[in-house]
Amino acid sequence: MHDYITKNKERFLAELFELLRIPSVSADPKFKQHVVECAAFVKQSLIVAGCDNAEICETAGYPIVYAEKIIDPALPTVLVYGHYDVQPADPYELWTSPPFEPVIKDGKIFARGASDDKGQMYMHVKAIETLITNNALPCNVKFMIEGEEEVGSDNLGIFLKNNKAKLKADVILISDTCIISNDCPSLTVGLRGLSYLQVEVTGPNRDLHSGMYGGAVANPINVLCEMIASLKDKDGHITIPGFYDTVAIVSDEERAEMAKAPFDLEDYKNALDLSDVAGEKGYSTNERVAIRPTLDVNGIWGGYTGEGAKTVLPSKAFAKISMRLVPNQQSDAMTKLFQEHFESIAPASVKVAVHPHHGGEPVLTSTTSTAYKAASKAFEEVWGKTPIPTREGGSIPIVALFKSELGLDSILMGFGLNEDAIHSPNEHYGVFNFLKGIETITAFYKHYRVLRVACSV
Ligand code: BES
Ligand code: MN
Ligand code: MN
Repeated sequence: MHDYITKNKERFLAELFELLRIPSVSADPKFKQHVVECAAFVKQSLIVAGCDNAEICETAGYPIVYAEKIIDPALPTVLVYGHYDVQPADPYELWTSPPFEPVIKDGKIFARGASDDKGQMYMHVKAIETLITNNALPCNVKFMIEGEEEVGSDNLGIFLKNNKAKLKADVILISDTCIISNDCPSLTVGLRGLSYLQVEVTGPNRDLHSGMYGGAVANPINVLCEMIASLKDKDGHITIPGFYDTVAIVSDEERAEMAKAPFDLEDYKNALDLSDVAGEKGYSTNERVAIRPTLDVNGIWGGYTGEGAKTVLPSKAFAKISMRLVPNQQSDAMTKLFQEHFESIAPASVKVAVHPHHGGEPVLTSTTSTAYKAASKAFEEVWGKTPIPTREGGSIPIVALFKSELGLDSILMGFGLNEDAIHSPNEHYGVFNFLKGIETITAFYKHYRVLRVACSV
């Protein structure tokens, strides 16, 4: 497979560039036509790769692209999941090249979606092309590529419930996560869950002159800041009563095992231009991201933020707040806990409203399943190293639903790097990772088939 991938490298990259040129931003309705166009592109690319029955499945939102290649119903079936939608590219002025005009610099592809997730999703399309063209596809494969991951996957959840027979498979394969580094491959075995909310603090019924009223009327921005500040204590613990009640305790043995993964705090700080890190007392940087829940303000606004100065005591203040959750915290329950607490700490001088957005449950996958062993062997073969199992801090809410709705485990075989700047300006993805990823995916199918057959005799 290696030779075929090397020979076709330039074409693979040229095709990925075409995909990256489509600004499929799901969050902003301005891009609607491009998101729809992107689904058609993905469908066409799956047909070209050799899939049968490629189709666009309409939903109440953006379409899901489905395709399959069934070589023998008696063989195991791998269901590939990925997303063709991307995050907004803002702020555009911080990009060194335009986000939807991909270029390669220093061996990296720069574009919105290069790593999350178009570049990673497209590896699967090219891996299947490679296997089919070389008469080496060892399993059945189904593709389910959605256009709403970055906005919560609501319609995919419904699609799962309504298409259980169509989606029948043995395992889900996803590349939408990271490895530790190109010298140290890893397999993701955990993702955090999410509760996302918007809060609104209302003071007076109109904006006021900050001299005429300032000091006598509660300023909703000041109040909101105080309320938010009170949500964490000086040790970085979240103060919402009951917040940690259900958090699964990770054993000392497991923490010791996690601590063996290579990590350099100085490099970590330097990469972010930080003189120090911050977080919950008693936990390492990796643990803070991997096994502990947290709460962050994602945006805060109100009053006057334009040019110059306007003296105003605003009527309203807003913030978007996310909580990252770990096993066994439950998204709806945590949202409710936040809402009750936030309303209870509001002073009488303001009104507070909490609006829940999307959520998702945390995931922890097995390291002893046949599919995990196959993924591990694929890394060993292609990277020459056994991948380290790692838990990551990000969320892919649909993964928990794959388990609860379809009864399927997921293999999180991502090839991104933390430095890829996903969701940030100058997102990029290594050409090395793209090509190596394609090869690792082809090796996964091979090992999965062998191990599955070995298990069933
Ligand atoms: N691919 C990411 C999730 C991710 C990134 C997991 C890196 C592990 C490592 C995904 O596209 C994403 O951004 N998810 C969102 C959640 C969603 C509901 C908007 C997230 O984690 O914020
Ligand atoms: Mn993603
Ligand atoms: Mn993302």
